[in-house]
Amino acid sequence: MKPKSATPVADGDGKYATPLSKNVHLLRWVEKMARLTKPANIHWVNGSDEENEELCAQLVAGGTFIKLNEELWPGCYYARSDASDVARVEERTFICSLSKDNAGPTNNWEDPYKMRRKLKSLFDGCMQGRTMYVLAFSMGPLDSPRAQIGVQITDSPYAVVNMRIMARVGVPVFQEIDKDEKRVVPCMHSVGMPLAPGAHDVPWPCNQEKYIVHFPETREIWSYGSGYGGNALLGKKCFALRIASNIARDEGWMAEHMLILGVENPNGEKTYVAAAFPSACGKTNFAMLIPPASFEGWKVWTVGDDIAWLWPDEEGRLRAINPEKGFFGVAPGTSVKTNPNAMASLSRNTIFTNVALTPEGGVWWEGMTDEPPAECLDWKGNLWTPQIAKETGAKAAHPNARFTAPASQCPTIDPDWENPEGVPISAIVFGGRRASVLPLVYQAFNWSSGVYIGATVGSEMTAAAAGTVGVVRRDPMAMLPFCGYHMGDYFRHWLKMQRRLKSTPRVFHVNWFRRDENGNFMWPGFSENMRVLKWITERARGRVIGQETPIGWMPRYEDMEWEGLDFSREQFESLQAVNLKQWHQEVLKHEELFIELHDHLPSEMIYERELLICRL
Ligand code: OXD
Ligand code: MN
Repeated sequence: MKPKSATPVADGDGKYATPLSKNVHLLRWVEKMARLTKPANIHWVNGSDEENEELCAQLVAGGTFIKLNEELWPGCYYARSDASDVARVEERTFICSLSKDNAGPTNNWEDPYKMRRKLKSLFDGCMQGRTMYVLAFSMGPLDSPRAQIGVQITDSPYAVVNMRIMARVGVPVFQEIDKDEKRVVPCMHSVGMPLAPGAHDVPWPCNQEKYIVHFPETREIWSYGSGYGGNALLGKKCFALRIASNIARDEGWMAEHMLILGVENPNGEKTYVAAAFPSACGKTNFAMLIPPASFEGWKVWTVGDDIAWLWPDEEGRLRAINPEKGFFGVAPGTSVKTNPNAMASLSRNTIFTNVALTPEGGVWWEGMTDEPPAECLDWKGNLWTPQIAKETGAKAAHPNARFTAPASQCPTIDPDWENPEGVPISAIVFGGRRASVLPLVYQAFNWSSGVYIGATVGSEMTAAAAGTVGVVRRDPMAMLPFCGYHMGDYFRHWLKMQRRLKSTPRVFHVNWFRRDENGNFMWPGFSENMRVLKWITERARGRVIGQETPIGWMPRYEDMEWEGLDFSREQFESLQAVNLKQWHQEVLKHEELFIELHDHLPSEMIYERELLICRL
């Protein structure tokens, strides 16, 4: 059946109402969604620079954006969210599989029929008075056989301009959709705040009621009520992790919450590593690491800082792409000292959200400079001075304030970061933020003990999600909020990957955050992590010795590179100490999650646990 022309444009000038695709299914879906949400205009996003400028100008006129000082921050914009819309909302995130069992105990589940009814009522008329944007995007380079395409319908121009940094968007993606009648993941998004005729808009429209919903069987995403980060940029957590993890399980690959980096040694040999750390544990810093001066000839290249899609290639090697095109990084704590590459990446063409605004039209956040500005406007728009901070504890930037910056601007971006065939992965690293128990680094005995280590990752919670900061939660493979199906089946999928691989990457666990009895960090971290990375990449190539311990292989003091760092054998040994009593307690805590997953838990996990207990 030939679709009717796109839904008539009610009030607008119709400039962008002409569809940019001929795909019948897409046209029908857009038409149906327009009929449901009743927007004033429809704008098919072409992705051009001119269009982006227009949208940014419109966001400035509407008060959502402030254009930063062009001399200091060329091409940059500043936004403040509503104070209630500042992070991913995990308790409002749903996996609506047909059976509750498929979502598993770590996801919120709702009956898909019931949820569809709810969404239909929420979305009915929700875009009144607003423009509906039709944004085609590709996760992964468009010419990659691994790329996946989505179309986000949204009433948030802020989401559009952010998505344009984070994914490949616009005409080339529509062309791709038309070429092959490619399967597209429909992503519906509304801030949930219709505008009555003549009503004044607010800078950050949103709704107190929020729903971030995934239908894994039909591969659909519906997000309502939030304009912030992972709730609104649907290509990222919703698609590239929750929906993609379902596609990956069905097709035999992996969608993981991992950075990808390449370590080049002085001989020009490159070893790629993928690493999974829970949100806001320094993935971006690690992905952009600069080796200490004493590591002459060594270089770390950045492929991605948050998400990796991995698959076995024809030779049985694991390969990976970064499906994203930008960084959506946590700003506080980022500085020229902690991450000069991130600072260079965000120095232009970047969108800042919920940081502080300086009187010169620049941005600032806690940790950016040693000296805070004499005054600025904080993330809520209130006057902030160091004195006010001292008296009230007020932060200039929200702890989950973000920058959205193009990956291509990263000085260490890997020449192969957009290689359609990805990069070969030799090592997988898991890590968490742990004040005690977990040593700086150890290596799993084999793939299945590596899966056990990943499955039992624990980390102290941070501000990336609403929750209790500081409490240790189990975050298997850093995927707890992102695995779109039963976590027990996810472990099984990991175990099964071994059969598809001729050589499995070596698996490691790191912890940069161990503290001594006085509460001080025992490891300097940041660029010194290169010492650990060197041991890891050399282990992955079978070139360096390790010492067998009850929990895995560990470097001895003499196996690590110490030139340029004053770090004694005693310090190293206390940092690497495996306290058997604490480990017994740790293993008991592994049980908490395993009990929840019991009926889907692969038996290998139980064997690995028993083996670990025996060795302790
Ligand atoms: C992120 C997160 O935004 O993990 O990357 O929360
Ligand atoms: Mn993340």
